[in-house]
Amino acid sequence: MSFVMGWSLYCFAAALSALLFGFLVKNRGRTFKSTTKLPPGTMGWPFLGETLQLYSHDPNIFFAAKQKRYGEIFKTHLLGCPCIMLASPEAARFVLMNQAHLFKPTYPKSKELMIGPNAIFFHQGDYHARLRKLVQGALSPEVIRSIVPDIEAIALPLLDSWDGRVINTFLEMKKYTFDVGILSIFGSLDLHYKEELKKNYCVVDQGYNSFPNKIPGTLYRNAVQARKELSKILGTIISERREKAMEKKKLLGSLLLSRDGNGEPLSDEQISDNIIGVLFAAQDTTASVLTWVLKYLVDNPKLLEAVRAEHVAIQEANENARNSVTWAQTRNAMPLTSKVISETLRMASILSFTFREAIADVEYKGYLIPKGWKVMPLFRNIHHNPDFFPDPHRFDPSRFQVPPKLNTFLPFGTGAHACPGNELAKLEMLILLHHLVTNFGWEVVGPRHGIQYCPFPIPKDGLLARFHKDPAIQDHKNSNQ
Ligand code: HEM
Repeated sequence: MSFVMGWSLYCFAAALSALLFGFLVKNRGRTFKSTTKLPPGTMGWPFLGETLQLYSHDPNIFFAAKQKRYGEIFKTHLLGCPCIMLASPEAARFVLMNQAHLFKPTYPKSKELMIGPNAIFFHQGDYHARLRKLVQGALSPEVIRSIVPDIEAIALPLLDSWDGRVINTFLEMKKYTFDVGILSIFGSLDLHYKEELKKNYCVVDQGYNSFPNKIPGTLYRNAVQARKELSKILGTIISERREKAMEKKKLLGSLLLSRDGNGEPLSDEQISDNIIGVLFAAQDTTASVLTWVLKYLVDNPKLLEAVRAEHVAIQEANENARNSVTWAQTRNAMPLTSKVISETLRMASILSFTFREAIADVEYKGYLIPKGWKVMPLFRNIHHNPDFFPDPHRFDPSRFQVPPKLNTFLPFGTGAHACPGNELAKLEMLILLHHLVTNFGWEVVGPRHGIQYCPFPIPKDGLLARFHKDPAIQDHKNSNQ
């Protein structure tokens, strides 16, 4: 969901350029008939609001400081838009679930065009519900359980290619999550198509967060061109699959077979926009979380040993890796690794917040949320609230021994737009980690501290690390054969 942070970067650039070129952005001078007051908080400078304060430090520090000062609901003006920030579980539930019909998804036009305006994220109502059923179905546990061996077949050669090398962990994880994304969308796909999709998708990915313009050769223009190419390639694949037998349960198959109440199929454009949308939602998110897992494990050697022991036991049960890891094992035999993933999702909170826009004046706990204002449930603030997660800055997977309180743990969001890919994300992480910890050791050779935004938070420089097949693990395995 890089478009969430992408939206921020875009709006930031837009706000700055508006200032530079002297456009006068007038407040619309709303007069609220309601006597309800706006939440506390400050709106900052004319035009810029508090955007500079947000970006001059870590954005998370900005939000945490505001919450400390004003409490769980406060107003600000960021990136050209008046905003209401909500940092409590009840408020997140109010916006994303109970009163979700009063808040619509909101993205800048350029992002919508780049992904494709027909993609699921941008919609509400019947069209959204129809797509949601298709996407959720194709990513459901019943379907993804059958692709465990195929995911393993992606993980194993990738891991082997790391042996003895220093790699940018995040970039390598992106290769993995892209290939798993392709698998879950198409099932099997000709290598030639896969390579073409990858080549053009990378260009879109690189230009997606750059400033929209029409200057040839810029990252943005290249991305627009590559997006057109992607549509062409997908058009060819779609027409081939319309004619030939297809894997009906995979996402593309479900999209092709879908009919609305009048028996109308989805258009090629609707299908390609959603394929690209799912790839966008799937790749950087999961890659970023996996990179953080490796960072936290290397920082906590005892925990890494305990995780390794969990997986060596599975491997022994699988006749020392002669048999593949099974779906049942990913569900039942990896409790510690699952907690490590949950704690990583909490600590790193790679989606610090999401955006909605109020479609009417809304009252919440005596405060007014004016129509047209952006509303941002702050997932990270909730995940780092000591009332819900004591000693919140400590990495402690054992806190997930007991389930978190309702709506306090929202790494995949909640409500109608909650992540339909959460089970696939967890599955692919567990499979990669299984083969990684049972074969490899790794040391960080780049910076050990610091965060970079890509636009998701990732460890600085993508976590540069040297991976090597670990002789001690190999000896242990050989002695048991
Ligand atoms: C660890 C990895 C992931 C995280 C943390 C994550 C997080 C999220 C969150 C928070 C949302 C809701 C955003 C909102 O309400 O505005 C979301 C939506 C979505 N995610 Fe994920 N996601 C991950 C992986 C995936 C994967 C692997 C896929 C698909 C294969 C996927 C597909 C989607 C889609 C299609 C939506 C939009 C749903 C809708 O609008 O109805 N995500 N994700």
